[in-house]
Amino acid sequence: MSRILITGGAGYIGSHTALTLLGVGYDVVIVDNFSNSSPKAVDALSALALKETGKQFAFYEGDVCDGAFLRTVFEADKIEAIIHFAGLKAVGESVAIPAKYYDNNLRSTLTLLNTMKEFGVTGFVFSSSATVYSDPGVTKYDEATTRVGRASSPYGTTKVMQEWILEDTALSGEIPLKVISLRYFNPVGAHSSGEIGESPQGIPNNLTPFITQVAVGKREFLSVFGDDYPTPDGTCIRDYIHVTDLAEAHYLAVKRLLEVDDLPMFDAINIGSGNGYSVFEVISAFDRAVGKKIPYKVVARRGGDLAEFTAKTEKAKKLFGFTTKLTIDDMAKDAWNWQNKHPNGFDD
Ligand code: NAD
Ligand code: WQD
Repeated sequence: MSRILITGGAGYIGSHTALTLLGVGYDVVIVDNFSNSSPKAVDALSALALKETGKQFAFYEGDVCDGAFLRTVFEADKIEAIIHFAGLKAVGESVAIPAKYYDNNLRSTLTLLNTMKEFGVTGFVFSSSATVYSDPGVTKYDEATTRVGRASSPYGTTKVMQEWILEDTALSGEIPLKVISLRYFNPVGAHSSGEIGESPQGIPNNLTPFITQVAVGKREFLSVFGDDYPTPDGTCIRDYIHVTDLAEAHYLAVKRLLEVDDLPMFDAINIGSGNGYSVFEVISAFDRAVGKKIPYKVVARRGGDLAEFTAKTEKAKKLFGFTTKLTIDDMAKDAWNWQNKHPNGFDD
C-alpha cells in the first residue's frame, strides 16, 4: 500500500488525517518538530490508531526546514505522496513577528520541494486556507473567480506565497510535480472518541476552543467580537467544517494524486461545507451539546474580521466526490467531548 508522508502530523488536522489514512490502509510516516504540539499527542494518536485501525505509523521528530533531516526520512521509507500540514498558524503572532512565519512556512515548503526532487516524489497536498482570498465584497468564495492576493495577515500571506511557489514550480516542469492545494474554511470539532483534538497553547485565538474552555470552567465567559455586522443576527458568519470531514478530503485528494492520470500540475480546491453559521448560532450549538448556556459578553469588533464568507463547494464534489457529512451539532458535540475528557488537552 502507498506510503504517505504527513508533515505536522502531531498537530490538530494532521493527526486526524493520519488516522483516516491508516483506516483506509495507507502506510503513514509523520514528521513534526513539536513547535505547536507534543509527544503526548503522538502517544494519543498511536493508541487510538492501534484501537481503531490495528495499524501504526512511523514517527520522526525534526524540522521540515532541515534538508539533511528530511533526507534521512526519505531514505528510510519510500514515500509516494506528501501532505504538508507543518506550518505556523497563529494570525496575531504573525502580525507581531512576521519574519518567523515567512521563514518557517516558506522554507519548509521549499525544503520539501528540493527533497521531493531528489527522491522523485511527485504528489503534494498542501494545507492552504480561505484566507488566501482577497476580494472585498465577495462572500461566497469561488476558486475560479474570487481574487487571491495579499492576505489580511502575514500568516495568510505565507499561504498565498506558498501556493505561488508550488504553482510556479509545478508549471515549470523543473520537478515533475502534481499539487492539490486544499483551501480549508474553519476546521472545528474532534475525533468522536474524544482521544485526539485541538489543544491550543495559552489563550485560544479561535472561537470553538474558547467556547469549550468556558464550558469546562477554565474561562469565565466568551467575548463575542461584535454584534453590529451586516448579518441577520449581527455576528460574523463562517463556514465551519468538522475535522473528520476535513481528514476525509485529504484522503480523497491523495487518492486522486495516486490514481488519476492527466491531472493539472496545480489545482486549488475549497474545502468547506458551503453553509454559514453565525457566532450566536455556534454558541447555541454548544449550549445544546453541553446542556447548559455558554456565558458570553458582546465586546468590540476584532480587527481584520470579515462579516461573512463561505465556500463554493462544487469543485471538490466534482473532482473527487467530497461533501461534508457532519453537522454543526456534531462539531459542537465532538469538540465538547474532547475538552470534557481532556480539560488540559494532551496533558491529561
Ligand atoms: P497545528 O499547529 O495543530 O499543526 C501544525 C503542526 O506542524 C504542529 O504539530 C507543529 O508542531 C508542526 N510544525 C510547524 N512547523 C514545523 C516545522 N518547520 N517542521 C516540523 N513540524 C512543524 O495546526 P493545524 O490546525 O493542524 O493546521 C495544519 C495546517 O493547516 C497548517 O499549515 C495551517 O496553517 C493550515 N490551516 C489550518 C486552519 C485551522 O483553522 N486550523 C485553517 C486553514 C489552514
Ligand atoms: C470565528 C468567528 C470571530 C473568537 C481563523 C483564521 C483563518 C483560518 C481559520 C487558518 C469570528 C469570532 C472568535 C472569540 C469571537 N486559519 N470570535 N470570539 O477568524 O474566521 O479564521 O481560523 O488558515 O486564517 O483567521 O476564525 O475561530 O478566530 O473566529 O467572537 O473569542 O468567531 O470574530 O467572527 P476566523 P475564528
